[in-house]
Amino acid sequence: MVAMREMTEPKDLFDPRHYTRVRRPFHSAETLPPWCYTSERWYEREKETIFKKYWNCLGHESRVPEPGSYFTQTFCDVPLIVVRGQDKVVRAFVNSCTHRGSIMMEGEGSCNHIKCPYHAWAFSLEGELVGTPMFEESEHFRKADHGLAQIRAEVWNGLIFINFDPSAQAMTDYLGDLTDRVAPWKAGEMVCVARREFPVKSNWKFYAENWSDGYHVPFVHQTTLNKKRVSKRDFHDPSVHIGNYLMHYTYFSGSRGTPEGQKKFPELDLPKELKIGTFFPYVHANAMVGFAIDLVSCTEIIPEGPGACRLFTSTMVPKATAELPEFQETLELYLKYSDIVRDEDVIAAERQQRGAESAYAKPGCFTPQDKLVHDYDLWILDRVIGNSGP
Ligand code: FES
Ligand SMILES: [Fe+2]
Repeated sequence: MVAMREMTEPKDLFDPRHYTRVRRPFHSAETLPPWCYTSERWYEREKETIFKKYWNCLGHESRVPEPGSYFTQTFCDVPLIVVRGQDKVVRAFVNSCTHRGSIMMEGEGSCNHIKCPYHAWAFSLEGELVGTPMFEESEHFRKADHGLAQIRAEVWNGLIFINFDPSAQAMTDYLGDLTDRVAPWKAGEMVCVARREFPVKSNWKFYAENWSDGYHVPFVHQTTLNKKRVSKRDFHDPSVHIGNYLMHYTYFSGSRGTPEGQKKFPELDLPKELKIGTFFPYVHANAMVGFAIDLVSCTEIIPEGPGACRLFTSTMVPKATAELPEFQETLELYLKYSDIVRDEDVIAAERQQRGAESAYAKPGCFTPQDKLVHDYDLWILDRVIGNSGP
């Protein structure tokens, strides 16, 4: 029996001394304290030090298929509009008019201009102010000074990423060797055949940590994923894997996309050594990508406060696969199975959240099989607190 002590959020929340035990070698390390998953102040700091500094995935570029296609989305309290320009480049802007701040576009669709409903100012798809009805340019006012605030956006392997930090590294530098590692999948040439949304009543990190946790699979996925024998897992090695990602490779034979005996998509044209399991990079800050033998999938986590997040999963296959006669039927099997598996993970994350919300919850520990979660938590800690130590 261990004596109970209340673990309320300390006033000096960002004092590094509260986190020294997380920094021990993993076998004696503690997990992040429970308040890191429940505290408004911690969450606000994550927004500034993680989500507004690192690249964030907003799904597949087919969300904006043609010049003029757009979607709107609020990310970390910033209303955004993502639009494909006449030059086919995907751009992101703050969805707030430079006249007097109105939201300009809602939902998604196609447009020739980004137009504000309040006084009908119009912006080009590239964000320049081009129309100000009943108001002329003058020595006091030049349209060129009133373009939309632009957020950096890049498409990597067909996925849209945004970054609020104007001085952030370009995606290819940011990802180090990852672009080369996943090049054989040719994900940028694939088509997105499904995008699914899942609300989760847990802190975003509980779901993200679960991605790096091989320990839960025999228990949480007892009747699903665990039916397929995993022979081993390779874990991220920072001396080998260079870039802002955290990977594991799970070894098993065949595809895990549908239960044994059910129809599968054809295998991708990959070298033999990449057909022995699935490569799972977690791209900081919010993208969990799976490079499998028959598809590529990406789940982006959208944080929605300390106790909630939302997942969006995109499924990508080669165009030739999507054109097969029984494709739709097979896809339904894949989606049905992945929904079951995801629900199992969501329930696990929501249980952790309920546990962490107790005043008596205390930091936990790690095992060799969830060691990667420790690496993940250190990454978080280095961003939120800094890595200088107490
Ligand atoms: S606030 Fe947009 S045109 Fe006036
Ligand atoms: Fe899982």
